[in-house]
Amino acid sequence: MQTPQLDTERLILRPLALSDAPAIQRHFDNWNIIRHLAAVVPWPYPADGAETFVRSELSKISAGEEINHWVLVPRGGDGEAIGNIHFRPGADGAKGNRGFWLAEPYWGRGLMTEAITAVNDFAFLTLGLDHFYVCNAATNEASRRVKQKTGAEFVGFIELPHHGGQSKSERWIVRRETWLRSRGAQSQA
Ligand SMILES: CC(C)(COP(=O)(O)OP(=O)(O)OC[C@H]1O[C@@H](n2cnc3c(N)ncnc32)[C@H](O)[C@@H]1OP(=O)(O)O)[C@@H](O)C(=O)NCCC(=O)NCCS
Repeated sequence: MQTPQLDTERLILRPLALSDAPAIQRHFDNWNIIRHLAAVVPWPYPADGAETFVRSELSKISAGEEINHWVLVPRGGDGEAIGNIHFRPGADGAKGNRGFWLAEPYWGRGLMTEAITAVNDFAFLTLGLDHFYVCNAATNEASRRVKQKTGAEFVGFIELPHHGGQSKSERWIVRRETWLRSRGAQSQA
């Protein structure tokens, strides 16, 4: 399915475009972000890192790969991307079906939790998935908290080398039934 735009209270999640590459380059080329990520991400980040990445993702999508890739754009701003979420509903889930990052100046305001809530709704209400998997470096407290706040249940550890030296990753499952139950509880609160 083509990636739809998702709207939240403070954010627009819009499908990734080549024109997002300069903003991604500016925000993502930051050790405080990259140290939490799997070692497959290039570091030092090349000057054309974002453009190469965006072109490669867009060509996979146009070749028919099932990838939903959004940039996060603050409402009422200049339209610049400040983060990114990718979701691969059909991946085998061993290393997780979803990844995300947010530009450092925007951390700690609940923005990623808000964005992931919309992506979970998309996964379960629009795509009708039963479950999917997510992962984070075992030392990544912020990513763990986002998962805990958005219905993920801890499954165990897998081996996955990260830039910051951490070789263990926490693996979580997000289930449709649990998500719908927590949504129902929130709307009745
Ligand atoms: C992970 C990330 C996307 C979180 O974005 P965010 O918008 O700041 O997340 P939120 O504000 O919605 O939630 C973060 C939670 O983590 C908590 N947190 C942040 N740093 C923490 C730390 N060092 N120790 C404990 N908790 C921490 C926050 O207090 C908040 O929890 P709370 O609402 O219970 O107080 C952002 O930190 C980031 O881009 N990090 C670098 C890239 C990355 O790690 N990506 C994920 C790879 S798996």
